[in-house]
Amino acid sequence: MRLSWGASVAALAASASAASLADVCTVSNVRSALPSNGTLLGIDLIPSAVTAAAVYNASAGMGSTETYTYCNVTVTYTHTGKDDSVVIKYAFPSPSDFKKRFYVAGGGGFSLSSDATGGLEYGAVGGATSAGYDAFDQSYDEVVLYGNGTINWDATYMFAYQALGEMTKIGKAITPKFYGMSSASKIYTYYEGCSDGGREGMSQVQRYGEEYDGAITGAPAFRFGQQQVHHVFPSEVEQTLDYYPPPCELAKIVNATIAACDPLDGRTDGVISRTDLCKLNFNLSSIVGEKYYCAAETSTSLGFGFSKRAEGSTTSYQPAQSGKVTAMGVKVAQTIYDGLHNSKGERAYLSWQIGSELSDAETTWNNNTRKWELSIPSTGGEYVTKFVQLLNIHNLSDLNNVTYDTLVDWMNTGMVRYMDSLQTTLPDLTPFQSSGGKLLHYHGESDPSIPAASSVHYWQAVRSVMYPHLSSQASLEKLADWYQFYLVPGAAHCGTNSLQPGPYPEDNMQTMINWVENGVKPSRLNATVSSGTYKGETQMLCQWPTRPHWSSNSSFECVNDKASIDSWTYSFPAFKIPVY
Ligand SMILES: *[C@@H]1O[C@H](CO)[C@@H](O)[C@H](O)[C@H]1NC(C)=O
Ligand SMILES: *[C@@H]1O[C@H](CO)[C@@H](O)[C@H](O)[C@H]1NC(C)=O
Ligand SMILES: *[C@@H]1O[C@H](CO)[C@@H](O)[C@H](O)[C@H]1NC(C)=O
Ligand SMILES: *[C@@H]1O[C@H](CO)[C@@H](O)[C@H](O)[C@H]1NC(C)=O
Ligand SMILES: *[C@@H]1O[C@H](CO)[C@@H](O)[C@H](O)[C@H]1NC(C)=O
Ligand SMILES: *[C@@H]1O[C@H](CO)[C@@H](O)[C@H](O)[C@H]1NC(C)=O
Ligand SMILES: *[C@@H]1O[C@H](CO)[C@@H](O)[C@H](O)[C@H]1NC(C)=O
Ligand SMILES: *[C@@H]1O[C@H](CO)[C@@H](O)[C@H](O)[C@H]1NC(C)=O
Ligand SMILES: *[C@@H]1O[C@H](CO)[C@@H](O)[C@H](O)[C@H]1NC(C)=O
Ligand SMILES: *[C@@H]1O[C@H](CO)[C@@H](O)[C@H](O)[C@H]1NC(C)=O
Ligand SMILES: *[C@@H]1O[C@H](CO)[C@@H](O)[C@H](O)[C@H]1NC(C)=O
Repeated sequence: MRLSWGASVAALAASASAASLADVCTVSNVRSALPSNGTLLGIDLIPSAVTAAAVYNASAGMGSTETYTYCNVTVTYTHTGKDDSVVIKYAFPSPSDFKKRFYVAGGGGFSLSSDATGGLEYGAVGGATSAGYDAFDQSYDEVVLYGNGTINWDATYMFAYQALGEMTKIGKAITPKFYGMSSASKIYTYYEGCSDGGREGMSQVQRYGEEYDGAITGAPAFRFGQQQVHHVFPSEVEQTLDYYPPPCELAKIVNATIAACDPLDGRTDGVISRTDLCKLNFNLSSIVGEKYYCAAETSTSLGFGFSKRAEGSTTSYQPAQSGKVTAMGVKVAQTIYDGLHNSKGERAYLSWQIGSELSDAETTWNNNTRKWELSIPSTGGEYVTKFVQLLNIHNLSDLNNVTYDTLVDWMNTGMVRYMDSLQTTLPDLTPFQSSGGKLLHYHGESDPSIPAASSVHYWQAVRSVMYPHLSSQASLEKLADWYQFYLVPGAAHCGTNSLQPGPYPEDNMQTMINWVENGVKPSRLNATVSSGTYKGETQMLCQWPTRPHWSSNSSFECVNDKASIDSWTYSFPAFKIPVY
């Protein structure tokens, strides 16, 4: 594609043809493109710190044969009057590859993305930010406390939403000038991420809505106060019921649930495409007495992001396990799927859909006592110690004296303390919507880390806050014009599920670009099955709140089913303030 060039690139370029990468990839070109102090309020760029160097034919990453050529730029800024320093790296495509786009990629766990090259395949400029706390080398949880009791609020707000928003504003200011275009040129701006990356995307939609034309957010780790403590909930269930199931017993319960509920959606393909029908029609008690067996294993976990043992690699040993599913095992599973309630029986949170793996419930083998014992996932444990108790320790060593009410208190403390930073559930998206933004939100229906229903609840909150006076059908139509939500049948956390060979969307950016740049509004989401009997099958996923129902082995309809939708609908009376 050939672009129409503005006067200043015509001057830069040796001939009338397009400028080369070498022409534009210079420190002086970047310096002259910096917004001057006072333009972006609160952001002072430091021209002397600019670097720029062309990178030719760099490999795109492990296993990939793609190579990229781009201008590697770093810029540094300080917040006016505050002697801090934030470094941003940008990757600018060659002028001939540039398609007037800017792309922001999400990170995961407690890390922002540190890679700026994600947009190059779309002809987009991309960026990554140090967020003022050296985020390229440290994760946010390492810096959240200055010491016991003292929160690093600068790092908290930067991680929560500010660093990405500033990176985008600065990037969009530099980009047209860098390419010699008029500074009023439209730069299509996209966000894409999953897990905390999904939360980061929602933070941009909520706080920097005017900056983005399209945001793709998967399985967002938002409603942070509830979500992080929810990781501890299965351990609390086991302690409260005083039953520590062998992991194989829980795995059997999950497998047997999948086998029993798979056909309820009309097709037997190993996938529960309708966890709502499973929830409404299947009784876990029917699994009691089924035999399980798992061979002994020694496994090494690398430990990253949301894995169970986030602090470095560990080796764990499990003896061979065989037995029959017990009533207590089923009770543990059922209580976990039911979600946290306080001692008055009031609901505090929702949970994973029935049939999701129960990974946060996994116990650990003590080879001395020869018993299965509590293993508190570090995702939740570290959150409680650092963010709630404000103690600089990496995990919760036990749950002594901890009850369901304690968990509710922890959730409430986190929700209130980080309400305007990490919680990330502002439901009024007017600035995003009214400036034309489009939001594509998706969630694996069998996500074992972040419950799929947590996304449904946010979609419902946005709908009711933005369209309080419209009829149900009218608000649905209005919302779908700019915010669409899709459940991905069988999928796990930000990926496919080894237990259910279901579809997964792989070309969301194409869908979004078409929506934003060509006005093609999607009504279904393109996803592909990557394993099992139906490997290679394309499924155009149903847009929420419609649900799939297979009428034959090769086609399904998207149906409206009130009982199913109601089974995804929650209120949280355990808290005194509204939970969006
Ligand atoms: C903008 O402000 C920063 C911080 O005070 C300063 O280092 C920089 O030189 C200023 N930029 C210009 C172009 O004066
Ligand atoms: C990059 O790859 C292209 C195509 O393979 C080649 O023509 C070019 O010479 C390479 N550039 C450098 C600097 O290696
Ligand atoms: C980009 O530039 C920065 C600053 O000079 C440098 O540290 C980094 O290694 C460069 N990245 C690549 C991929 O060349
Ligand atoms: C559950 O199913 C998976 C995949 O189908 C299998 O690998 C695993 O061994 C099963 N576990 C149990 C306990 O049946
Ligand atoms: C499931 O079955 C058990 C045992 O038959 C029964 O006690 C329980 O009430 C049933 N649960 C539901 C939700 O029907
Ligand atoms: C566990 O204990 C058994 C016997 O007490 C011993 O034979 C075995 O080596 C131990 N395994 C590990 C991994 O420590
Ligand atoms: C913070 O508190 C923990 C738990 O009481 C303690 O182990 C640790 O030494 C304290 N750290 C500092 C720096 O005071
Ligand atoms: C908990 O954290 C401490 C250090 O703070 C570490 O020594 C210990 O191994 C951790 N335990 C688990 C189960 O991760
Ligand atoms: C648990 O609670 C009991 C009674 O409230 C108290 O005596 C004990 O010290 C507590 N234990 C811990 C570890 O906090
Ligand atoms: C669906 O996505 C695949 C890539 O995963 C792509 O090849 C295909 O063309 C897309 N189909 C539609 C209908 O968009
Ligand atoms: C649909 O698939 C199931 C399971 O693979 C098979 O048993 C059944 O015969 C198929 N039905 C039709 C109509 O082909």
